[in-house]
Amino acid sequence: MTEHLTIVRHPLVQHKLTLMRQKDTSTAGFRRLLREISLLLAYEVTRDLELTTTRIETPLCEMDAPILDGKKLALISILRAGNGLLDGILELIPAARVGFIGLYRDPETLQPVQYYCKVPDQLDQRFSIIVDPMLATGNSSAAAVDLLKARGARHIRMLCLLAAPEGVARMREAHPDVPIVTAALDSHLNDHGYIVPGLGDAGDRMYGTR
Ligand code: URA
Repeated sequence: MTEHLTIVRHPLVQHKLTLMRQKDTSTAGFRRLLREISLLLAYEVTRDLELTTTRIETPLCEMDAPILDGKKLALISILRAGNGLLDGILELIPAARVGFIGLYRDPETLQPVQYYCKVPDQLDQRFSIIVDPMLATGNSSAAAVDLLKARGARHIRMLCLLAAPEGVARMREAHPDVPIVTAALDSHLNDHGYIVPGLGDAGDRMYGTR
């Protein structure tokens, strides 16, 4: 993947995203759409995964057939909204290793503070995909990448549903080597750090909280 930002313009992705943006979409509907869209986005973000081969027997003959080495993949979910994207991707790649990073924003400094981190070992040998539906200021994403790099990760990619130009710029400045895959690049962030037009608070919409 050579582009820093890839927008997945597939009609199914765009259609489902529009339904998710609508404020009247129910929690159940939002969750179902998020699972469906994550399968489609996973297709794009895993495009460069390395394959190995395995010897198999078809009804006609033996062959060396391509197969994913699922153990080489680390999916890193940014709590809590990342889990919505994670679930769908895990359906496609059940052998992937999974990590979780919890960050909150310090009300004084507005900087991300880590409160939880459990990630797979040997990150230097894995392809890591960070999943977080909303790339807003980019501060938590940049902090998550810092953390993974400090643990040896070298091949990192970011998957989100919506990105704000501010977040993309922050990531480009902090981690130009981390490609971002998203379904849309929205207009801007409002004064509360929400993406506009956006879809609201992704965690609240997927879990029915406020
Ligand atoms: N997080 C969200 O859930 N929504 C936004 O618009 C921005 C950050």
